[in-house]
Amino acid sequence: MTVKPILLMLRTDSSGDIEVRAADPDVPQVSVLDFGVTRGDGVFESIGVVGGRPQALEPHLERLAKSAAMLDLPEPPLDVWRSAVFQSIELAGPDDAGEELLVKLIYTRGIEGGDDTATGWVHLFSSGPYDHEREGGISVVTLDRGYRSDVATTSPWLLQGAKTLSYAVNKAALREAGRRGADDVIFVSTDGIVLEGPNSTVIALIDGVYVTTPSSLGVLEGTTQAAFFADAEGRGAATEYRSITVDELRAASALWLASSGRQIAPVVTLDGVAVAQDPAFTSAAVGRLLAR
Ligand SMILES: Cc1ncc(COP(=O)(O)O)c(C=O)c1O
Repeated sequence: MTVKPILLMLRTDSSGDIEVRAADPDVPQVSVLDFGVTRGDGVFESIGVVGGRPQALEPHLERLAKSAAMLDLPEPPLDVWRSAVFQSIELAGPDDAGEELLVKLIYTRGIEGGDDTATGWVHLFSSGPYDHEREGGISVVTLDRGYRSDVATTSPWLLQGAKTLSYAVNKAALREAGRRGADDVIFVSTDGIVLEGPNSTVIALIDGVYVTTPSSLGVLEGTTQAAFFADAEGRGAATEYRSITVDELRAASALWLASSGRQIAPVVTLDGVAVAQDPAFTSAAVGRLLAR
């Protein structure tokens, strides 16, 4: 690891102006009374940084604002967050080793009993390596998410489709995958519809079309999957957002999980059954995603 981690704290003053201050990531910076810490009450984004460029910065900022709105948080000033992202990359200095980085944007409801100002920070650090998963693929199990596929419409307070800090369930699902001897998870709804991974979007190749679940079914709008679709469409391939049944998932010609950082990882087994592979395609697609 050659790139030193960078932390920028975003503090709102009494007039509503936001000060961006470089801070030591090795020293505690957040109050024990912060709602983000005590309740997971906040939102976040993880943005890949490759060759000094933040990937899909605008879609990530838009998703941060959308998640914040779903939680009734104050609207995050995106110009301040955007410039803090660039400032963190600048402060990290030149990346001679060509490392892949992640920059995390965290935005919480602030301090319990405080003055109702949100807490924010931007944290840049080295990520990966991801070669093992990109090249060797991942074994995946399907797990019941326990919700119908229409909860985003019927029960918006469940916050499906918001990138909240409450990832304890997602982490528990990954541990369950580990107990079943797998690397990752695809959540399915109680009515048998494919949702998403705990930190990834599902892409399935079905009858020659790249298909993913629409965000109307309570999954995150994946920025990496969107970039994959744009690349595929640019190369003449067909893409579609539609609900996918678990039976269709099992019959797909190929499957990938897409996320910032890892980009795409091919699924090599689904619930213990082998999934067809096209390593040359996956490797070329990863290369194009990294170069975007
Ligand atoms: C639940 C969930 N779905 C999908 C994704 C993929 O989104 P992106 O490609 O924008 O990283 C993530 C990534 O963090 C996630 O946490």
